[in-house]
Formats: sequence, C-alpha cells, structure tokens
Amino acid sequence: MTDTLIAKVTSGFESKFGYQPTGVWSAPGRVNLIGEHTDYNEGFVFPFAINRHTFAAISLRDDSTIRVASSFSPIIHQVDVLAIARNEGNDWAAYPFGAAWAIQEMANSLLKEFEATGFDCFIESDVPVGAGLSSSAAIECSVALALNELWSVGLDRRQLARVGQMGENVIVGAPTGIMDQSASLLGETDHGVFLDCRTLEAESIELGFAKDGLELLIIDTKVAHRLVDGGYASRREACERGASAMGVTSLRDVSPSDLLKAKEIMDDATFRRVRHVVTENDRVLATVESLRTNGPRSIGRLMYASHESMRDDFEISVDELDTAVETVLRHGAIGARMTGGGFGGAAIALTPIEKISEVSLSVIAEFEALGYAKPEIFVVSAAQGAKREI
Ligand code: GLA
Repeated sequence: MTDTLIAKVTSGFESKFGYQPTGVWSAPGRVNLIGEHTDYNEGFVFPFAINRHTFAAISLRDDSTIRVASSFSPIIHQVDVLAIARNEGNDWAAYPFGAAWAIQEMANSLLKEFEATGFDCFIESDVPVGAGLSSSAAIECSVALALNELWSVGLDRRQLARVGQMGENVIVGAPTGIMDQSASLLGETDHGVFLDCRTLEAESIELGFAKDGLELLIIDTKVAHRLVDGGYASRREACERGASAMGVTSLRDVSPSDLLKAKEIMDDATFRRVRHVVTENDRVLATVESLRTNGPRSIGRLMYASHESMRDDFEISVDELDTAVETVLRHGAIGARMTGGGFGGAAIALTPIEKISEVSLSVIAEFEALGYAKPEIFVVSAAQGAKREI
C-alpha cells in the first residue's frame, strides 16, 4: 500500500510540475484512544498514529513561490512564501501553507540566519477526510517534516508538533490543541502516545491489542465534522470560562475534589463542560495504568465512561455516534467511544477478533434501520510516526 502511494504521489508531482520531486515525506493520521478536549486544557491525552498516511512529494524552487496540488482536487494553489495569510480561498491548501508559515515563524525566532525559499508540493493521502482521524494534521506534519529538512531548520519533533498546531490555529483558523500533531510525529508501532499537554512530555505505552486477540475498529459515521465550525470553539471558551471562575489558568489545575465548589459557582452548562475535562484527565491516567497492569481487555469501562461524559456533559456526540457505540457494545466490543473533536466523525470499538464481523454487520444493519448514511468500518493499527520515505 505504502509503495503504491509513494509511486502515485511521485507521478502526481511529475505530471503537475513537469519534473521529479526531491523526496517524499509521510505522516500518519491518528485515533485518540482516550483523553478528548483535554489537550487545550493542558491535560492528558492517549492517542496513537494509525496505518493511514498522507504523502507529500516536495522540491524547493529557486524563487519565493509555493505551489501545492493534490490528487483530491484539480486546482494548484499558489502563494508567496513570505506572504502566507489566512484566506478562505486557500481551501485545503491552508494546511500546507499553515505549516510553511509556522515553521518560518519558529525558524526566525530561533535561528540567526534563515531564509525561506519557495517550493512545489503534491499531496496524496489515504487518511479519510472529515472522520476525526486528523487528515489535516497528517498534511501539516508531512509538510513540516519535509521543510524542516529542506530548509535546514533543525527543529525536533515536539517543536514540529507546535508548528502544525500554530499553522492550524492561525492560517486555517481552527483553535485546536497539540494532540493530533504530537500523535502523528511521535507515534510508534503498536504503542500509544501518552502525552502531558502541559509539559509536552510524551511516553510510548505498549498497546498489546494483537497479542490479546483484539483489534481497534473505526466506525466512520460519515457525519462530517469541521473544526472551524462554532461547536469546537464554544467548548474551548466554556473551558476557559470555567478555569477563570476557579481562579486557575487552565482546567488541568482543577481536581475531582474541586468539582463540588465548581458546581456552586458556575452555571450548569459550564459546570458540565468542566466536569468532563476534569474526569477525562483522570480517565486517561487510569487507562494508562490499567493497560500496564491488567492489559487492554481492562480498559473498556473507561472508554465507555469517556463516551458518556462527552455525550452528556460535553455534549459533542451525535445520534449516529451514540448508536454506533451502543450497538458495538451489545454485539461483543469490549469498549467503545466517539473519538476526535466530535459533532460527527468516527467512533472506535476495541473488539475481539472473532467478533469483528458480527460487530461490523450489526452497525451496518442498525444504521440502515434508522435511515442513517452507510458507515465505513475498518480496522486500524498503531503505526510509526512521520518519516522521509524516499
Ligand atoms: C481535535 C483537535 C485536537 C483535540 C481534539 C479533541 O482533534 O484537533 O486538538 O482538541 O479535537 O480531543
């Protein structure tokens, strides 16, 4: 699969730009096992990089023009490397442009001498778009990794994660956290990335799903989610309101024992947003601990508790996600929850291998009975993070 996509991205580059790329860099999408909407609250997350990737074929140019093209759109987007700004017309190209802008910002602040040149870039990807599997972070990270090398900036992977996030915040205009880019850059085969979003300390934790006869199913509900829409930003604002009411800079500093006080001093909706974040941080820690001591079959209860909290307290689930979660649990999944930013996208189901087919068929049947769009269901495994391919 990887070889085919490398061949496709290379020939895509050649047919658009008329010469060969200098190299091809890849970055994976991610799935979040647990720890949702905790990253921008300086909390804990536990995602992993998946075996679905974006490939970026890139060559530097002699002038200051950036041209980006892809297999999913006929348009070549163009901008001057020194004049990248937020612009609705950028469409998906805002992701590579954002990475190019942010890496310059960082290079200018860290290096004495730095001069960005233009480049040509062609993108190919098998990360589903709009499914909450971070197709956008995969584009940002593949391009950031490439430019870090081609422009000789020398940033480490944590700094590159910041680059991806800055580009997304400023040039795309989505107020997202650091989780997706960290997973895409720090992922390791068969391991989850346990990340403290306050210190950016990351630890690779063995998942051991295959050893225990388990697989992680993705159920893409096909309800498209977009992080630039208002729901994500309004949740973030509620968290900031809650933190300031509690007299702290972020909800990381609110503990479960503070919740009684929180309930007294804020309105009900803000309190429930706060309760989700505070209890979710605890669930991430409990999941990592439980995985280490009792193995993956022990984490199902925590996954479902996370889903309930997102459904009832954070209110970011939709009927299709709830249906997917309830159905897979009835048919043998060990744990399930919606994953990603919410308001659509995918659910995950930790499922014994012998139950995969029953679980998948039951979701398809249930969706059909309820008149929902046909979901796309597939297995993912934990893969290595971004790298240069050729
Ligand atoms: C999106 C954002 C992340 C994170 C999740 C929710 O994926 O990009 O930064 O906030 O939503 O956990």
